[in-house]
Amino acid sequence: MNEAWYESFAPPPTARPPRAWLDSDAPRLPLDGHWRFRYAERADGPLDFTRPAFDDAGWDRLPVPAHWQLHGYGAPAYTNIAYPFPLDAPRVPDENPTGDYRHTFRLPEGWPGGPALLRFAGADSAALVWLNGVELGRAGGSRLTTEFDVTDALRPDGDNLIAVRVVQWSAGSYVEDQDMWWLSGIFRGVDLLARPEGGIGDVEVSAGYDHLTGAGTLAVAADVPARVRVPELGVDAAAGETLRLPAVEPWSAESPRLYDATVSTGAETVTLRIGFRTVRIDGGVLTVNGRPVLFRGVNRHEFHPDRGRAVTEEDMLDDVRLMKQHNINAVRTSHYPPHPRFLELCDEYGLYVVDECDLETHGFWQVGWRGNPADDPRWEAALVDRMRRTVERDKNHPSVVLWSLGNESGSGRNLAAMARWARHRDPSRPLLYERDWTCRDVDVYSRMYLPVAEVEAIGRGEEAPLPDPALDARRRGMPFIHVEYAHAMGNGPGGLAEYQRLYETYPRLQGGFVWEWIDHGLRARTPDGREYFAYGGDFGEVLHDGNFVADGLLFPDRTPSPGLLDLKKVFEPVRIAPSGDGGLTIHNGHIHSGVSKLDFRWVLEDGGEAVARGALEVGDVPPGESVRVDLPALPATAGEAHLTVRAVLAADEPWAKAGHEVAATQLPVSTTPPLAAAAPRPAGAVPLPATVPPAGGATRAGVPTATSAAVRRDGGRVRLGPGLLDERTGRLVRLGDWAVDGPRLQVWRAPTDNDRAPHGEALEPLWRAAGLDRLTHRLDGVSVTGDGAVVRVRVAPASSDGGLLTTYTWRILAGDRLGLVVEIDPDGRLPGPLPMLGVRFALPGELDQVEWFGRGPGEAYPDTGLATRVGRWFRTVADLQTPYLFPQENGRRADVRWATVTGGRGGGVRVDGRTPFGLTVRPWTAEALDRAAHPTDLAPDGRTWLTLDAGHNGIGSASCGPGVLPPYLLAPAPTHLELTLQAL
Ligand code: GAL
Repeated sequence: MNEAWYESFAPPPTARPPRAWLDSDAPRLPLDGHWRFRYAERADGPLDFTRPAFDDAGWDRLPVPAHWQLHGYGAPAYTNIAYPFPLDAPRVPDENPTGDYRHTFRLPEGWPGGPALLRFAGADSAALVWLNGVELGRAGGSRLTTEFDVTDALRPDGDNLIAVRVVQWSAGSYVEDQDMWWLSGIFRGVDLLARPEGGIGDVEVSAGYDHLTGAGTLAVAADVPARVRVPELGVDAAAGETLRLPAVEPWSAESPRLYDATVSTGAETVTLRIGFRTVRIDGGVLTVNGRPVLFRGVNRHEFHPDRGRAVTEEDMLDDVRLMKQHNINAVRTSHYPPHPRFLELCDEYGLYVVDECDLETHGFWQVGWRGNPADDPRWEAALVDRMRRTVERDKNHPSVVLWSLGNESGSGRNLAAMARWARHRDPSRPLLYERDWTCRDVDVYSRMYLPVAEVEAIGRGEEAPLPDPALDARRRGMPFIHVEYAHAMGNGPGGLAEYQRLYETYPRLQGGFVWEWIDHGLRARTPDGREYFAYGGDFGEVLHDGNFVADGLLFPDRTPSPGLLDLKKVFEPVRIAPSGDGGLTIHNGHIHSGVSKLDFRWVLEDGGEAVARGALEVGDVPPGESVRVDLPALPATAGEAHLTVRAVLAADEPWAKAGHEVAATQLPVSTTPPLAAAAPRPAGAVPLPATVPPAGGATRAGVPTATSAAVRRDGGRVRLGPGLLDERTGRLVRLGDWAVDGPRLQVWRAPTDNDRAPHGEALEPLWRAAGLDRLTHRLDGVSVTGDGAVVRVRVAPASSDGGLLTTYTWRILAGDRLGLVVEIDPDGRLPGPLPMLGVRFALPGELDQVEWFGRGPGEAYPDTGLATRVGRWFRTVADLQTPYLFPQENGRRADVRWATVTGGRGGGVRVDGRTPFGLTVRPWTAEALDRAAHPTDLAPDGRTWLTLDAGHNGIGSASCGPGVLPPYLLAPAPTHLELTLQAL
């Protein structure tokens, strides 16, 4: 056997023992910058470059930290589960992209002599390191820190040369099969650390909080005799002592109180930020400082569209601030320890962290788990080493409340060994590992992508039993965390509210972590220079998983998606709701804090126009409690009115400015009490309140005034007041001065990722098999009535006897308006649910601006759009489109009462609904959207496509997980849409 240095089961033998990532006053020399770089397709090139005398003048330069694939060497590749190489551990292919690095540095003035360490914070996937020609050893564990002792190799004067060979594939790749881009290189920083004689090697902080007495316990241990000082608490004690501090302020994600501390010897001072908090499982409930915690979490990969996993401090800060702004209180570091700075930010800004070990072996599932490293004793030392390096590096962060052994690695003895090690080393934090459903080795029951009904069963303690009664009893006593749910791929996820309701109902359910935080689309350009975000397959990969890499709540450029806005709404820590007796209930869902940091403001809108506003006196509300407040005295309104009550930050917080909205509720107030919250509902399902004003000041569609004189047959056309109907097609060709083409029944929608559902219950194949993407329209007749016309069309696919009988009834109304009643009746067998049911019109492309009164400003489908509110909104047609990385149905506005599409030379078209309708306006058709692979494939076709729907199928989360919940399914059933059209 010809095993290479990177093909070993064993952990790196010459690295220093792991320790905490410390902020020390000992000199540190960051070595980041532009290093000399040479790329090769194989890993067995000559090693002469490691000699200082080697001439690298011909080499390129590559930034450190960075991934070489994002700088023109090799190419990114994406697979979810599959390994992109044959399974034959620990061997890897001869084709093994390799980067040789060289970097010369000098010690700065005043650098002390004596011991020094060279620290790599992350090199993917394995590195062999030399200093001044001396081999230091290898680094493995891509997202784990490796330190080498360089005391003897370092030159105090003159040039020092670091030489590093990094290989893309190593034995470590078998245990790093996370669902993400395969990207290589030194992607986190490299530092030289002076280690003064008598300095501090490691520090361990234990800072607990007794919620009954308000006291803190503090034990700061160091590997050498040292003094611990916490000036604010008057602490000045020997390291190793356990101190009881009668009164401390606890740390929580809501109030991330930190105390500055130092640990000093004569030779070195380490600075710490201490948070007092106690994590415990009490009676089957996970508590922080004695209170049950509810995780409103997300799974976060490190990602930037240009830098990959080589994220900067600014990127991390953006993530933390965006999470806080969207009511997220917890992060699972899927599926590896993040850059250490990220955890410092979580401590400081307040986020609970599930810190996950760098471990995933999911691709062994494809071979029936044969040879799974999680269960093969040859891997035990390497896996325990990974856990050890995770825990030792991150042990001092108050934000880290749970350790996770890793992700999707099946089950096996090595996981048990990791758990044993972690439990013994750090009994203060519970352990989690999702994939072993027996929970044999862990303290928390966790699962991913469970349907709502199954989560509810777990909440009630009624889950299906395990075969082993002892394990079953143990698991039944555990808290439950939905470690991944609500797959945020493309349009969606739908159904967030249903999960949250359960988490807030059953004490055993302690919330979960939405999959995932950010789309991993890599910035790319078309040949003509237009920017888009690339996904799997865009780099010519033989094996890939397409756009499954783009399943985040943020677009790759960190623009929040509609899904993140929905999540913010669902995660509201304060709920404002009608009290049922004409007032409001304010419920404080915080666990540790009151609501004194929030101001409550209200605004009254009449027909979408603000007519009155004010502040609401709420006073403080203790955590977990509710108060009732009176509604403000409201002025009389003439039209459909809504009261919106918002809870906003009273003062600036580190993560948002004063005025930032934390929670809000909208109530219709034109109806008589009791009030009902304006909950999202399928469009068209509920009639408008009787107080809706006549559209445009004229008579509404339901009570028309006919003007029969205006109906006239004229050479194949029917003149219908302001409209002209083509008798050959049955479609309107003019409305006022505008050339139009419609209505045409619209059933197809460009399948969403959730309709396509690569890992779930896919509707798209059923829809295509039924021919819903190729419906034909046959005109059965146009009859002229006294005050309008009736057009009958049968819409059906080839090779099927099922179809939809569609009747369009036109009536001329007063005020140059046209009433249109669309009746859709299933005829024969049709698959259910249908994608959507509506009608579409082509309008001139110059009409490129839309105003509407309905829910907005964002898109909404039956089970999404929770963040939207009824109002009067305006957008350009371009801005109505949501640029999902893989083009799909998007941009629908829900519960629209009326809309105008205007522009160009002035004027346009107005549509009013007898009941609220769905509105979609695009510069291309649904069919074009369906054909596109990237947003850059879409070009405006010169027309504005206006779609008015009576309903859409829900969105669900079947791209990975459960499909659409029953109330949101669009069954084929007789459907009715009543509209008024008017040229402006
Ligand atoms: C999970 C896995 C994640 C991701 C997700 C789908 O099974 O843990 O890493 O692959 O599915 O996007």
